[in-house]
Amino acid sequence: MTDHYQQALKQIIDTGNYRRLPTPRQVELNFSSNDYLGLSHNRQVIEAAYQAGLSNGIGATGSRLLSGNYDLIEQLENQIARDKNCEAALVFATGFQANTSVLSALLSKQPSLVFFDKLNHASLYQAVQNTDCTLVRYRPCDLNHLRDLLQKYAHDSSPKWIIAETVFGMDGLTVPLNDLKNLAEQHGAWLYLDEAHATGLYGSRGYGLSTTVDLPEKTIIMGTFSKAIGVSGAYIACPQTIKSYLINYTPGFIYSTAPSPMVIGGVVKAWDLIPTLNQERQRIHRLSDYARQKLSDLTVLGTQTNIIPIIIGDPLRVMEIKDRLLANEISVSAIRFPTVPKHSDRLRLAITAHHTQDDIDRVVKELSQ
Ligand SMILES: Cc1ncc(COP(=O)(O)O)c(C=O)c1O
Repeated sequence: MTDHYQQALKQIIDTGNYRRLPTPRQVELNFSSNDYLGLSHNRQVIEAAYQAGLSNGIGATGSRLLSGNYDLIEQLENQIARDKNCEAALVFATGFQANTSVLSALLSKQPSLVFFDKLNHASLYQAVQNTDCTLVRYRPCDLNHLRDLLQKYAHDSSPKWIIAETVFGMDGLTVPLNDLKNLAEQHGAWLYLDEAHATGLYGSRGYGLSTTVDLPEKTIIMGTFSKAIGVSGAYIACPQTIKSYLINYTPGFIYSTAPSPMVIGGVVKAWDLIPTLNQERQRIHRLSDYARQKLSDLTVLGTQTNIIPIIIGDPLRVMEIKDRLLANEISVSAIRFPTVPKHSDRLRLAITAHHTQDDIDRVVKELSQ
């Protein structure tokens, strides 16, 4: 009975890609956290979560459509809609849930043509695989390639979608958003943007790269509360009609318990703090440039963001280096196939507002050995 599963595990062990949960521990120097602004330990955020729990309970008690709707979650959605310059917003318990359930619902009613950046997150892949859309993948952030493909399908009358992250979580690339927007408009395509790694770090008030561009009406933006916001959950910012459609057609929304009021209380406070954190954002970008410059002898991808991938190209070697760093109290993420393409196994450094120049010097010194 278990032979099949043992066989599958053996295969993954043989390729060097076997995953195991790391032992929970505190390290002196953490470069593997997505808590870019340090909000997960912010006292005001934790206090707001506690107060929200006292007023509303720790659990939402049901789906939003039954007993689980509450003022705080509607307040958050209204605030997000304003800050993202969209008509409406809808909150989900996790980013993975938001991407898979929302995109499946949007793409399910009519066979669509989906132009899809190859580097997109697993949740976006999972979403399109749940539908009968035609998937047309373009090279990472290569808008010339996207343009050619859109041109190739110009006479196809199916609804068209372009799906991309605005800041790519594994490569640290940013999408040329103005050009992407122009292509979407020229071809009448819907734009679906994942701002998981942009929310909190980009835009004049920190509310994401999407706020720096005047986006077409047919735009849907997803972002998470699990990275720079420091809590968990996700939002969809979209036209009001799309919000109403999602409330009626998204099983992952209709049949799932609403996020905990404590989580939402914390998110409301963290979201509020985002525009006050300009200095922290500047510090992150300055330190990231410093780290890239110090690491220039290694194969480092990305040129602009706080996500710094160091390509090793061999899964076993990546784990070896990660373990060696951990023995010296430094945590970095080891990212292997299939999360990233074969032979691009890497260490991923995430620079946060809590790092110092000395911290960067220390990890660079360890890495150069
Ligand atoms: C680009 C992107 N989208 C979606 C998600 C999923 O978000 P969450 O961790 O909140 O489920 C992630 C998380 O790693 C991500 O990097």
